[in-house]
Amino acid sequence: MVTQIVRTNGLIDIETTASVALMNNYLLHWARNPDPGSWFDWMTFWRHWVSDQTLLHWLFRLRYGCQLLLEDENVVSHIFHQRHGDELHLFSIFTIEPRQNEGIAKRMLREWLVTAWNTPGINKVRISAGNDEAVAHMYESVLSGAYHLPFEVTRGNGPGWVNLIR
Ligand SMILES: CC(C)(COP(=O)(O)OP(=O)(O)OC[C@H]1O[C@@H](n2cnc3c(N)ncnc32)[C@H](O)[C@@H]1OP(=O)(O)O)[C@@H](O)C(=O)NCCC(=O)NCCS
Repeated sequence: MVTQIVRTNGLIDIETTASVALMNNYLLHWARNPDPGSWFDWMTFWRHWVSDQTLLHWLFRLRYGCQLLLEDENVVSHIFHQRHGDELHLFSIFTIEPRQNEGIAKRMLREWLVTAWNTPGINKVRISAGNDEAVAHMYESVLSGAYHLPFEVTRGNGPGWVNLIR
């Protein structure tokens, strides 16, 4: 089985091996099918009137991006984020149901944090808004040192916020 983590937009590490078409299609599918009534749903209502190409263009301009865990080109886990200046906001983390509770989201989050730290100009991240039990647990674990990050982090101001210390 070929396993790889690929990323697009807003993070420095766009791997040349990545299947760009696969990532773009995944991003588009998710953008066209957001949780009804979610912030993203409201903020991108214009998506109904634009082509896939235009939607993708604007998602990138608005600095939306994702990190995917692929196994044989199948998406097993995703993180979606948006960059705002020196901040990177994780607003969706997901592992397919048959593979949950194997530590996959934890691995994804660790990779995402390391990549954020390695991306010039990103000083703070927000690990969701703190209203999901699993994500809140992961957030506290990050701050407690359980993710064994190769750099220091401190608790930021407000739920989900983490300062990356260089
Ligand atoms: C939440 C989700 C991403 C976790 O993915 P996963 O790959 O099963 O997670 P992991 O196995 O890596 O577990 C990560 C940690 O969270 C904990 N955890 C997992 N589900 C949990 C839950 N429902 N409540 C509290 N903690 C939970 C695990 O015990 C683990 O903690 P540990 O590191 O102390 O052992 C997955 O259940 C999912 O996709 N759910 C649907 C989408 C969703 O609700 N996303 C969150 C909101 S954006």
